[in-house]
Amino acid sequence: MFDLIYKVVWFFTRSFLFLFPPEFSHNFTFFIIKFLFKIPFLKKIEKSRYFINNKKLERNVFGINFSNPVGLAAGFDKNAKMINDFDAFGFSFIEIGTVTPKSQYGNKKPRLFRLKKDNGLINRMGFNNDGLIKVISRLKKKKTKLIIGGNIGKNKTTPLEDSVDDYKKCFNDLFDYVDYFVLNVSSPNTPSLRELQRKDKLETLISSIQLINEKKYNPKPVLIKISPDLDFKYVDEVIDLIFKYKISGVVATNSTNTRDGLKTSYDKIEKIGQGGLTGSPIKEMSTNMIRYINKKASGSIPIIAVGGIMSPDDAIEKIEAGASLIQLYTGFVYKGPLLIRNINKAILEKYN
Ligand SMILES: Cc1cc2nc3c(=O)[nH]c(=O)nc-3n(C[C@H](O)[C@H](O)[C@H](O)COP(=O)(O)O)c2cc1C
Repeated sequence: MFDLIYKVVWFFTRSFLFLFPPEFSHNFTFFIIKFLFKIPFLKKIEKSRYFINNKKLERNVFGINFSNPVGLAAGFDKNAKMINDFDAFGFSFIEIGTVTPKSQYGNKKPRLFRLKKDNGLINRMGFNNDGLIKVISRLKKKKTKLIIGGNIGKNKTTPLEDSVDDYKKCFNDLFDYVDYFVLNVSSPNTPSLRELQRKDKLETLISSIQLINEKKYNPKPVLIKISPDLDFKYVDEVIDLIFKYKISGVVATNSTNTRDGLKTSYDKIEKIGQGGLTGSPIKEMSTNMIRYINKKASGSIPIIAVGGIMSPDDAIEKIEAGASLIQLYTGFVYKGPLLIRNINKAILEKYN
């Protein structure tokens, strides 16, 4: 019964939100959730609907206890505005960011587009974010038990050769406020950022971060987020570095620059222009990447799977490919919070 009511409510909510430009709908949704959760007990009621409290869903991954394996992917709550609200929808973790040292506007709008026929999105946001100072001020007000990942990157104006300094600054300043870190070297929307995935540059970056990390009293897990477009020969190099520098895991994957096999018309895609494609169209690429890493590393590298998870079956497919945790972005936009509950239910049914 709940599912049916929910589906009707979601149908109307989504139809309404999809009347507006995607970025406006995104911000408007934040505003409405904040507003509604001021109503006494509403957040608690929502949480009781979506959150499945079951020991069998718990996971210990890279030394952290997750109450279930489903999280919110980076980019959705870039500025940590919703960290006290989103556990109501059943997530066990949120990856905030990508945060850069200084706030930046990102690319010119419009920069986010829906591909409804494909259950996909194209974005060229360009790391729009409020910068470290504001993000940290919000993290200091965290009231929930949600695990927080800090996804970090470089400012657009920082030359690539100085980018390590930006990551170091983010790492140091965020250290006390997040549970794990993700070095984002795979966004297609910051010029030449993806070059940081290549061996020499990546080695400089992760060795510098791990040097700081190891000196801390309680080092934090550091992960690397990679692109689905990275050739497997370069993935091999990333894996070697992961072992060499005791990196805690991989987030696979970010968005793709490719546009293959889309149902959306060629003209529309041309008109949208550059940006990272996400959602259903990248499901297979992401799964192939997870499968490859898992095989190559004989299952010894924890993987957070992200990319095209639009249904419980998609989530199971990622777990079967070798993922320890999963994250949603586009699936959350298209399917709403019931997806989280249904994924957790499916995991319980399949593995217990
Ligand atoms: C609008 C938008 C903004 C994003 N911003 C970021 C970001 O700032 N940092 C990041 O690592 N990934 C970012 N991503 C990528 C997602 O975290 C995720 O890797 C990607 O969307 C694939 O998952 P999905 O198919 O479930 O959407 C963004 C994705 C979208 C759609």
